[in-house]
Amino acid sequence: MIRKAVIPAAGWGTRFLPATKAQPKEMLPVIDTPTIQYVVQEAVDSGIEDILIISGKGKRAIEDHFDRNRELEEILSEKEDNYWYQEIRRISEMANIHYIRQKELNGLGDAVNHAAQHVGNEPFAVLLGDTIIDSIIPVTQQLVDYYEQYKQTIVAVEEVPMEKVYRYGIIGGEKVSENFWRVNEMVEKPAVDKSPSNLAFAGRYILTPEIFKAIKDTNRGINNEIQLTDALRILNKREAIYACNIQGKRYDIGNKLDYLKTIVDFALKRPEFKEEFMTFLKEIIKKNM
Ligand code: UTP
Repeated sequence: MIRKAVIPAAGWGTRFLPATKAQPKEMLPVIDTPTIQYVVQEAVDSGIEDILIISGKGKRAIEDHFDRNRELEEILSEKEDNYWYQEIRRISEMANIHYIRQKELNGLGDAVNHAAQHVGNEPFAVLLGDTIIDSIIPVTQQLVDYYEQYKQTIVAVEEVPMEKVYRYGIIGGEKVSENFWRVNEMVEKPAVDKSPSNLAFAGRYILTPEIFKAIKDTNRGINNEIQLTDALRILNKREAIYACNIQGKRYDIGNKLDYLKTIVDFALKRPEFKEEFMTFLKEIIKKNM
């Protein structure tokens, strides 16, 4: 059973400057909901309520968001705005959220390593705090279901266009069944003609506690950081790793263009905006054609 989730959210967010100069990129809203709230919701919808957020410098807004705000509750209650009163209370009670600070930003592998004490000796989920995955079955639930069957590390992957593999971490492996591979290769940003596949890491993992030993044995890699992919490569020499081609659409909020696309996609899914927004988009497209 997977009881705990770790959400790394300490990164600088340099690809999203200047918005991330004084606010966490994980708090960037998709319409009205901060990115990290979608991520916490995915964990909760996958049956995980013990969540450790890896926090850091300038990330206090994340803690405030999941905390109670009694003043706001009083104001909403006086205004008899019952919908938002309930919603604000719900956000502060969504999950049992813990925080640990990553004092120096030494990479995703190092961020995950900060969870060692909290997680102890059990498998756990990792959900990147700047990545939303829209799906019918929560993606973490999809991974948990495979974990229950295989009891090994499971990484989420998604197909990306072959000509864009150089932007991603890519896996190679043997196909076990539809959408499921046994991994035998993991490479960061491969050249298009050297890539083992077009299956890219999708920001969700179920990791066994053995990962902590692997991270300790991992040297600094790209950007002089401890990369999770490098630690997974070491882990793969010690135990099996499987990859699940997820059923869902991934949105990387840390990247400005993806962020824009996310907002458009999500706005078109909201009944209160859909019609008017679609008309607006059509007009803009017409003008720019
Ligand atoms: P990214 O590599 O996208 O985050 O990590 P970043 O370093 O903030 O990005 P840029 O390149 O500077 O824009 C994915 C997730 O892992 C967290 C980030 O906060 C993000 O949610 N992370 C990354 C950490 O918690 N610690 C780190 O040292 C690095």
